[in-house]
Amino acid sequence: MNFFLDTLRVILLSFWYNIEAFIHLFVPRRRKSVAGEVVLITGAGSGIGRLMAQEFAALGTVLVLWDINQEGMKETAQLAKECGAIKVRFYLCDCSNKNEVYRVADQVKREVGDVDILVNNAGIVTGKKFIDAPDSLIEKTMEVNTMAHFWTYKAFLPAMIAKNHGHLVSIASSAGLIGVNGLADYCASKFGAVGFAESVGLELLAIGKDGVKTTIVCPYFINTGMFDGCQTKWPTLMPILKPHSVAKNIVQAVLTDQVYLLMPKSMYIISALKNILPMKQGILLGQYLGAFNLMDTFRGRSKQE
Ligand SMILES: NC(=O)c1ccc[n+]([C@@H]2O[C@H](COP(=O)([O-])OP(=O)(O)OC[C@H]3O[C@@H](n4cnc5c(N)ncnc54)[C@H](O)[C@@H]3O)[C@@H](O)[C@H]2O)c1
Repeated sequence: MNFFLDTLRVILLSFWYNIEAFIHLFVPRRRKSVAGEVVLITGAGSGIGRLMAQEFAALGTVLVLWDINQEGMKETAQLAKECGAIKVRFYLCDCSNKNEVYRVADQVKREVGDVDILVNNAGIVTGKKFIDAPDSLIEKTMEVNTMAHFWTYKAFLPAMIAKNHGHLVSIASSAGLIGVNGLADYCASKFGAVGFAESVGLELLAIGKDGVKTTIVCPYFINTGMFDGCQTKWPTLMPILKPHSVAKNIVQAVLTDQVYLLMPKSMYIISALKNILPMKQGILLGQYLGAFNLMDTFRGRSKQE
C-alpha cells in the first residue's frame, strides 16, 4: 500500500478509536447475549469462581464447573441452579495435571458439548519468599496458574476457532503486571498467564478469527480468603476488593467484549506509570504504596471455605 495512504489511514483510525473510547467513558457499551451458551469455570468451588458461576447462571447459561474441591463445587452447583442456570454439571479436575485436563475436557465435550466461554480461574498462592519456597510448591503454582491455561485452550479453542465464536477469560492478577516482594512465583505465573492470553488473542486476530474474544482480568487483593492477612496501605487508593463486585465486573467485561479489566481503576494508572517512570522513582512510588510490605502479614486461607 502507498506509504501516505497507509499513514493517513492509521492517523484517522487512531483519532476515531480514541474518540470512541472517550464516548464509552459515558455511554455504556452494548452487552451481548450469552443465553444458552456453555460456560466452563475452573476453580468454581469457592471464591470468585463460585460468584462468577452465579452471575453467568442468572444470564441463562449452561454451566460446567471444575475444581479439586468436590463439596465446594456441589454448593456452587446448587447456588447456580437457584440463580437460573439452564443446566449445571460439575467435574473433579486437577487443572495442574495436563492428562486430567484433556480427559475431563473430552468428557465435557461428550456430555455437554463445545464450550463457548472458558474461564481460567483456578489459582493458588505459595505466600513464601522465593528462597524459602519449596520447589514442589513453585512448580504447582506455575502448573495451576499458567500451564493449566495452555491445556484448557488446547482442549476447547479448536471448536471456537471452527465456529469463529467463543470467549477466553483469564483470571490473572495485578501481580501479573507488576512484580511484588514476596510473590515471585505467583507473579511469574500471573505474568505468564497475561502474556499467554494476550498472545493467543493476537494470534486469533491475525488469522481473522475475531469472533473469539479474550478478556484478561487483573485484580488487586480480593477479600475471598486466598490472601487473608494481607493489608493495603492506602485503602482509598488501593482498596481490598469485594468479591461480589469483582465477579459482576468480570461478567460485565465479558458481555461487552472488554479485553483488559484492571481493578481497582487506580491500577490502570499505576501499571502505566511503572513502565514510564525512572526506576528510582518507580521504587519510591512502590514503597509509598506499600508494595514492598504487602505480603508481610500474609496468612492465606486457613481452611477450605
Ligand atoms: N483473592 C485475591 O486477592 C486475588 C487477587 C487477584 C487474583 N486472584 C485470582 O483469582 C482467582 C480466584 O481466586 P479466589 O480469590 O477466588 O481464590 P479461591 O481460593 O477462593 O479459589 C480458587 C479455587 O481454585 C481451586 N483450585 C486450586 N487448585 C486447583 C487445581 N489444581 N485444579 C482445579 N481447581 C483448583 C480451589 O479449590 C478454589 O476453589 C485465582 O486465579 C487467583 O489467583 C485472586
